[in-house]
Amino acid sequence: MAASWNAKTTADEVAKYLSSEIKNKNVLITGASLGSLGGEAARVVAKYGNLVILAGRNQEKLDQTVASIKAESPDANLRTVVLDLTSFASVKAAAATVNTWTEPIHVLINNAAVTPLKDLTLTDDVESQFYGNFLAHFLFTNLILGRIKAAASADFSPRVVIVSSAAHAISPVRFEDYNFKDGSYNKFVAYAQSKTADILFSVELTKRYAKDGILSFSLHPGSIWTAGSLTLKEDLIQIGVLDKDGNVQAGAEEFKSLPAGAATHIVAAFDPSITGQSGAYLADCKVRNEIVAPHAVDPESAVKLWALAEKLVGQTFA
Ligand SMILES: NC(=O)c1ccc[n+]([C@@H]2O[C@H](COP(=O)([O-])OP(=O)(O)OC[C@H]3O[C@@H](n4cnc5c(N)ncnc54)[C@H](OP(=O)(O)O)[C@@H]3O)[C@@H](O)[C@H]2O)c1
Repeated sequence: MAASWNAKTTADEVAKYLSSEIKNKNVLITGASLGSLGGEAARVVAKYGNLVILAGRNQEKLDQTVASIKAESPDANLRTVVLDLTSFASVKAAAATVNTWTEPIHVLINNAAVTPLKDLTLTDDVESQFYGNFLAHFLFTNLILGRIKAAASADFSPRVVIVSSAAHAISPVRFEDYNFKDGSYNKFVAYAQSKTADILFSVELTKRYAKDGILSFSLHPGSIWTAGSLTLKEDLIQIGVLDKDGNVQAGAEEFKSLPAGAATHIVAAFDPSITGQSGAYLADCKVRNEIVAPHAVDPESAVKLWALAEKLVGQTFA
């Protein structure tokens, strides 16, 4: 990790520095739409990597990302797979497709997130953000684990990178009421619950699959204006994070550019200096375990969440 990396460092700068690590690697990124953090991460990995697999819910959007990356890197080796995180059937179909491909997956970046909805919405009887952001990725990751294990060797440990958010601090996983049956639903709290689940998932992945040489990292990318965050602008004004003109208020995190927002993805995916810190939480291109809420790294909660996830997806994993 370069000592000078910070909140302004761009994904391009990190990828250039780590280009020899990215070389020959196959990477799968969920939620790789143009203008999103996943799309930006895919763009820079495609410059140096062997294969980038773009997973998203909409083939047209995936084609747009491919066209844009190809315009910049004509020789990029890109592949797409449709993956809709609001449907376990779609997740299983996507995983089945990935499993037909012979290449090992060196890095999986679980980056996609569903749109936070104003009113409580259930997907297959589960709160939609808990389902889309966490459960669907839990299922997808475990179903393609064979391809990830296949990338492990004496001198390389595959990585599962999980894009969480600093918002995780707002809520633990509500084990007794993850569906907000108590009537307290609030889209920020539901988002926070799903993002805490993401970090706990990384903690448990680290523990379970260390024997297979697999590493996992979770991260907060920063605050970046993207299609997803723009849907929250009015709410952020209402709760005082932004003033009425959209300026960041004192004490709130400054917004980053898209290239800076995707930089931590690249550090978590490729930086060899963090290999010995599997399970770590990153922000601003650095390991920042000291800023994680204790509820998001509690080992007992991580075990409990894994069991709950297996129950909800209807499948157990070793
Ligand atoms: N931006 C921020 O300030 C910020 C802060 C903290 C954490 N994050 C996290 O960073 C990650 C990337 O967010 P972003 O800001 O880049 O948001 P974004 O621009 O809205 O991108 C989200 C991606 O997820 C995809 N997605 C949405 N619903 C999906 C579904 N049902 N199935 C499959 N894919 C789906 C989107 O596809 P479509 O284009 O088809 O909608 C898009 O590719 C998320 O995990 C988010 O929680 C972002």
